[in-house]
Order: sequence, then C-alpha cells, then structure tokens
Amino acid sequence: MRNAQQTRVIGHRGAAGEAPENTLASFRLAADQGADMVELDVHLSADGKLIVCHDETLDRTSDQTGAIRDLTEYAIRNADAGNWFSSDFSGERIPLLEEVYEALPDSMEINVEVKDAAGSALDPVLLGFLREDGRLERTIVSSFDHKLLVRLKQAEPKLRIGLLYAADLIDHAGYAAGLNVEVYSLHPFHELIGARDTSDAVTSGLAVYPYTANRPEQWQRLLELGVSGIITDYPGELRNYLIQK
Ligand code: G3P
Ligand code: CA
Repeated sequence: MRNAQQTRVIGHRGAAGEAPENTLASFRLAADQGADMVELDVHLSADGKLIVCHDETLDRTSDQTGAIRDLTEYAIRNADAGNWFSSDFSGERIPLLEEVYEALPDSMEINVEVKDAAGSALDPVLLGFLREDGRLERTIVSSFDHKLLVRLKQAEPKLRIGLLYAADLIDHAGYAAGLNVEVYSLHPFHELIGARDTSDAVTSGLAVYPYTANRPEQWQRLLELGVSGIITDYPGELRNYLIQK
C-alpha cells in the first residue's frame, strides 16, 4: 500500500461537494482544505476565451442559458454561477482559466480537462496560455479525447498529458505506451482499475489519478491499490482521512 501521506488530494471541479463547481470559491475552498491539485474543465467562448465550466452550456450551473461556444466572455461573466448551489454563493462568476491560476498558490497543480473535443480551435489558445508565466510546470491536461492529447503533446513536448477513460482496459499501461507520445498520468474511472494495472502503471513511471471517488470505502480500496492520487468532490474529507491513516 502506498504511504497515505504521499497520495495526492485532487479537488474535483474545486471542492464540488461543498461549493458551486468550477468557481473561484470552489477552487479556493479546495486549496484551504489541503488539496494538492484541482481539476477543472475548459471550453472556448465565441470570442476565443478559455472558460471554466463543465457543461457545454450555462444552463445547469448558472442563471443563464446558452452554449459557451456561441456566447462572448461578457455574456458568460454576467451569469451568476453560485446561487443554483446555495444562496451563500450568490454572485460567484464563471471564471476565466487565467483567474483560476491567479487565485491559487503557485505550489498548487492544476488538472485542466479539455471538454471541447469538437475541433482544434482550442489547441493554440490553450497552449499559448500555458506557455506563459511558468504555467506549464503546474499543469496536467487531461481529456477523454486521446487524439487531442497526442496532438497537444506533439505541439508542446513539455506538456504533461493525462488519459481520461471510463473503459475497462485490458492493459492500462500498455495502452498508454501504444500512443507513442510520453504520457504523464492515467485518469481511469475509479471502479475500473485494479492492483495489477496500478502497479504496472506506477512501475512504468505513470501517475495514476482515478476519478471521482467520494466515499471512505472507495478511498481505502484505491489506497490499497497504491494509486498516486485521488480525484474527489470532498478534498477536505479526503485530506483528513489520509492524515488519520
Ligand atoms: O477528470 C475527471 C472527471 O472530471 C471526468 O469526468 O464528467 O466529471 O468531467 P467529468
Ligand atoms: Ca472534469
């Protein structure tokens, strides 16, 4: 079993169990609760801005509607992204990616999940952003679209890429090796990875960051597997759980 204190705590959409997902309030809460890293989702707006939001539309997580790709930054930032979760968070905005990097300490890693797999317009915008101000070093870009990740890695060899998947692979590390670019991490759905897969991946030099595990019995199983970190909606609770191990 991996040392619990070495297991990284990764706040899913910040601390999405306790604050409105993908808002600065959620990311700051995750940082305050001792997360080592936060996970977030990005889309490109109509005017080419990197917008932090899980869904393609504003409908579920704000008081506005519409597809992000059809809206400008101005329209998106008029939306209230906190009140749907709780009136305590009224006035929270949908952040730009830049604001998240500025809001968090430099020591915190950021796992950027690219949701916009529809086209390659996001590639140069994201890479341009990450190449400034030492951002590459604190970033892992993940996606369910592995061709997109290979494309980004070929364009920027310093970029760390993480493979997201919900499939039950026969050979997790072997699949990563077959992509023929250096993969930094595996991000499997947490129920779909076992001891052999984890140990093969770690031995191959891959970090293993399963998503999204929210319960102590799930955390215990993952700890016993020896994963490198756990993506959770409750980073504070996971941190306390690991401290007590
Ligand atoms: O990155 C892990 C997890 O966020 C992937 O699924 O739908 O929550 O973005 P989803
Ligand atoms: Ca995500």
